[in-house]
Amino acid sequence: MPTLRALTEDELPIAAELFLTAVNEMMSRFGLPAVTVPLQAQIEAYRQVHRTGIFQVAEEGGQIGAICCAIQREDQWFLSGFWGRPGQTQQGLGGPLLRQVYELAAARGARRFFTWSSADPTAMASYLRLGLWPAGPILTFIGPKPPPEVSPLAAHPLDPAAIAELDREVRGVRRPEDHRYLLEHGQGRIFERDGRVVGYGYAQGNLLGPIAWARDEDAVSVLTATAGLAPGPELRIAIPSQNRAALAFVMDRRWRLFWFAHLMQSEPFGELSRYVPSGPLLF
Ligand SMILES: CC(C)(COP(=O)(O)OP(=O)(O)OC[C@H]1O[C@@H](n2cnc3c(N)ncnc32)[C@H](O)[C@@H]1OP(=O)(O)O)[C@@H](O)C(=O)NCCC(=O)NCCS
Repeated sequence: MPTLRALTEDELPIAAELFLTAVNEMMSRFGLPAVTVPLQAQIEAYRQVHRTGIFQVAEEGGQIGAICCAIQREDQWFLSGFWGRPGQTQQGLGGPLLRQVYELAAARGARRFFTWSSADPTAMASYLRLGLWPAGPILTFIGPKPPPEVSPLAAHPLDPAAIAELDREVRGVRRPEDHRYLLEHGQGRIFERDGRVVGYGYAQGNLLGPIAWARDEDAVSVLTATAGLAPGPELRIAIPSQNRAALAFVMDRRWRLFWFAHLMQSEPFGELSRYVPSGPLLF
């Protein structure tokens, strides 16, 4: 029987290494190029989840064989990571671990649950068993940085308090702790027109997101202004299928569809037609 327990802070490098090994086993299974995130960057990413969420492991024979972590913001739980060490999967380690992370959050008041699922059948089946239903693909596109243009929007330093209500509307919760992390690791701006906040956007290196806008008609200007924050030359964006405006933006510019994951949720949340997520760590 595996031991289920909390990950300690000094074990973050083990969790990050397990993730990189597992994700690259999965990428090679699907014929995709390896993920090249440096180990230290993954440790920092997991530190954010460890500090502000739930991070559990399944240990067998004195070794960590699977990791599972989630953030909880208000009553909303987002599963940030669920990975088994290659060679140790499909042997009953992950299922009980996932249920424990879910139950710990439910005991802390989580009522709405969702995740960014890979196309791995064991992972998807585990989420279905938990009551998370498929809500459409999240499509990742790659394309060139658009040429600079005079933006109709004014860009200001991002103050999380100024966008708390927009976040509650489009992302379903407020999440100042995630903005603090994102500001440390990327370029974030609030965009205004005539003194009115129309949206915000981040470039995490060349990855665009999170991005949010208040009105449908502001999609293109907010997306264009956010693209301007990235160094380029090649940008990346992951778009939920609900966001037709962002899909049209990349299709109009002939960006290349790279791959897709699946949004799985216990119930709909926010207004994803006006939101582009930050990625599978914090959504
Ligand atoms: C996802 C993962 C962490 C699960 O861990 P695991 O140790 O393999 O999980 P388990 O062996 O406990 O199986 C989990 C559940 O899925 C069920 N299951 C597995 N494959 C299934 C399938 N094809 N159809 C239906 N159910 C399936 C198992 O019966 C088990 O259910 P139970 O807990 O109710 O008995 C692991 O398989 C993995 O690392 N996969 C590759 C990486 C990945 O894609 N991770 C997900 C990122 S979002």
